[in-house]
Amino acid sequence: VATDPNRPAYSATAGYERVDDQDDPDALVELMDETAGWPAVIALRAFEAEHLALSPGQSLLDVGCGRAEVACALAPSVQPGGRVVGVDASEAMLADARRRAERAGTDLELGVGDATALDLPDATFDAVRCERTLQWIPDPSAAVAELVRVLRPGGRISLIDTDWRTLAVDLPDATAELDVMRAILDARGPQASAGGQLVNLCRDAGLVDIEVLPVVHPFLGWDLDERPAPPGIIPVEELLPELVDLGILDETTVTTFTEQYLGAARAGRFFMSLTMFGVAAAKPG
Ligand SMILES: C[S@@+](CC[C@H](N)C(=O)[O-])C[C@H]1O[C@@H](n2cnc3c(N)ncnc32)[C@H](O)[C@@H]1O
Repeated sequence: VATDPNRPAYSATAGYERVDDQDDPDALVELMDETAGWPAVIALRAFEAEHLALSPGQSLLDVGCGRAEVACALAPSVQPGGRVVGVDASEAMLADARRRAERAGTDLELGVGDATALDLPDATFDAVRCERTLQWIPDPSAAVAELVRVLRPGGRISLIDTDWRTLAVDLPDATAELDVMRAILDARGPQASAGGQLVNLCRDAGLVDIEVLPVVHPFLGWDLDERPAPPGIIPVEELLPELVDLGILDETTVTTFTEQYLGAARAGRFFMSLTMFGVAAAKPG
């Protein structure tokens, strides 16, 4: 899909896995701005800050740091004397991150890297975080192994992710809704449910003191005259044709779903929900 010249601006299968290969990487950067305002994301980041319990002089690594919004927010907690390192696969994301850090007057060490092969020494960081990135990595357990490798014994780790299996829209045709959700999951692969896998990813990596916070984000509707989709969500008109092209969804289902999804928004009776998870844990000391 990513190499198809006719693919839509957003590719459901490539997505944040290859931001820089997209037609419009900045659209993905902007979408992150919208999701940062979701109350669920705000709640999960607060849970994380409490559990990382950073203190002056400590080191923090943010893997898949994106726009480095959280890295900037947490940086003052490790000063004086600490350091915050951000790694991301996308130059477009890091360009935004550099501008943000400069505006905030925050000293971040930012660089391109792959979560599954970090160019960092073992047992380096007091704390490691990774938010909404494992869901874009074909082998999330390889990434978690890397996060644990660079964490010092006794260090703390925070993983935040979405479980796209939980996306549910209240529509009259529940079968069309289930078919669309199934097609989205098929296109994205098993990592799309990374949120629900976080606890066992931590157990499998030998982490201890595992704590979990599930948060459901409600979408109560949006004004179709103002925007094509709820904040932070890809418009169905961009997403669903790609699933048809992939041969995993039929046109009739797309038409039914789209009419009912947009119709619910127009009628002021749209409701959709999505569960996200925050997991905090420690590396045995
Ligand atoms: C949905 S964004 C989340 C960004 C940020 N953590 C946040 O929550 O605002 C996913 C990020 O993961 C990055 N990413 C995807 N695959 C990656 C990989 N293998 N290694 C490092 N970063 C990756 C993307 O470039 C993107 O910035």
